[in-house]
Amino acid sequence: MYFIGIDLGTSSVKLAAMDDKGKVISSLSKDYPVSYPKTGWAEQNPEDWWNAVKEGLKELVARENIKNEVKGISFSGQMHGLVMLDKDYNVLRPAILWCDQRTEKQCDYLNITIGQNKISQYTGNKALTGFTAPKILWVKENEPDIFKKAVHMMLPKDYISFKLTGNIVTDVSDASGMLLLDVKTRKWSKEMLDIVGISQDVLPIVKESWEKAGQILPEIAEYTGLSQDTNIMAGAGDQAAGAVGTGTVSPGIISAALGTSGVIFASSEKYEVDSDNRLHSFCHANGKFHQMGVMLSAASCLQWWVDNVNKDIEGDPFEVLLKEAEESGVGANGVIFLPYLMGERTPYSDANARGVFFGLSMTTTRGDMTRAILEGVCFGLRDSLEILRDLNVPIEEIRISGGGAKSKLWKQIAADILNTKVVMINSKEGPAYGAAILAAVGCGLYSSVDEACKNLIKITDSVDPIVENASKYDKIYNIYKNLYPALMKSYKNASDIFEK
Ligand code: XUL
Repeated sequence: MYFIGIDLGTSSVKLAAMDDKGKVISSLSKDYPVSYPKTGWAEQNPEDWWNAVKEGLKELVARENIKNEVKGISFSGQMHGLVMLDKDYNVLRPAILWCDQRTEKQCDYLNITIGQNKISQYTGNKALTGFTAPKILWVKENEPDIFKKAVHMMLPKDYISFKLTGNIVTDVSDASGMLLLDVKTRKWSKEMLDIVGISQDVLPIVKESWEKAGQILPEIAEYTGLSQDTNIMAGAGDQAAGAVGTGTVSPGIISAALGTSGVIFASSEKYEVDSDNRLHSFCHANGKFHQMGVMLSAASCLQWWVDNVNKDIEGDPFEVLLKEAEESGVGANGVIFLPYLMGERTPYSDANARGVFFGLSMTTTRGDMTRAILEGVCFGLRDSLEILRDLNVPIEEIRISGGGAKSKLWKQIAADILNTKVVMINSKEGPAYGAAILAAVGCGLYSSVDEACKNLIKITDSVDPIVENASKYDKIYNIYKNLYPALMKSYKNASDIFEK
């Protein structure tokens, strides 16, 4: 018996096949492009996702010869993206992605004109540029013809689920990031639907993450080689699915994701919202809730450093740069990097924020700058962790995941800057593994998501903070956290000149 987890990411889709003992027997990934039509905008073609998933499923099933043995499939999806379909289910425009920042005006309308208190009362959150409701308002204002034709609106992974099953279904964790769900009651908020001016019919049916979205369509079963009995489960947003994949399903365990985005995630037993909505307050994929802080650029900062600035390095550029960064040493020779390449969400909610190297001198080397990037991303994570500390959320251990967690150096820097033990778990597949677990729970292999995690997730290794590094980083963090407030006005002025 096998279960497939589909992690629909921003740069690629990853598929992982897990057996009934929880072992990943095979995985593959397929890339697709992101387009950035204007500074701060990010779009993708939903058909590219679908082609990648369809071909990926076909390849995985054939390669492992598991044709009739896949019982369930589920998802982890890049969150918040807006997919709009017309009455014949055609895609109306490219999906507007989670990291797209075009909706500042719509967020001001929601947070200021309607009022943050009201929005928070209806949804548990405030409006942020990445969330889906402001994107709907943007389309309504800027592309009224498309808005009129849009009779189905959904999140990225829900489009894939629709293509597989013919049903339009979402799950509570991903739906939380639309700013249309009343997180407390796990139902669409009538008030928010009125504010945005849409009816509930345009939105998917909401399920818990492990619940069934439908059965695979016969023609898709035939194309991919899967059995017609394959069950498709609703799945989760990538952060909740990733948390399931690292066993972050009980209080005290925090997960830190060093992926394209950077996330600090705390699972909670009950619905909680902090007074100023500094953290997102969302439904979790295990039937409970979670709070998280999200940085828009994390491991993607290093990717940018390679792709845009250091593309001519001979050999593996990551290896070369990380070695130089290690030689640079704690504090990067006085260089501090602000990782706001796509603006920033937590803690500043500022679409105009941009990356900065602070403290350059005649002695600065490329190694110092690379190291500053690794450290800056961890300082950004610390901003979210400090909010959790401020809210008295228990923090016993941090489970680290994402592409950046492959680097030993980056893990040590994370342990030192967060000043907490960082642990690694047995699965390397992250959100795709979480998605496969959700499929297994949906098929009845485990009685609950928590039960599955208890059985499957094991700690394999850990990194303790080095006391002297941690105390040096404490001092540097104090400088780091004063840089954004000092630059805030200049970011706005720069955006008025360069980006309008
Ligand atoms: C979460 C978030 C990102 C995206 C892309 O709120 O915006 O995690 O889902 O990974």
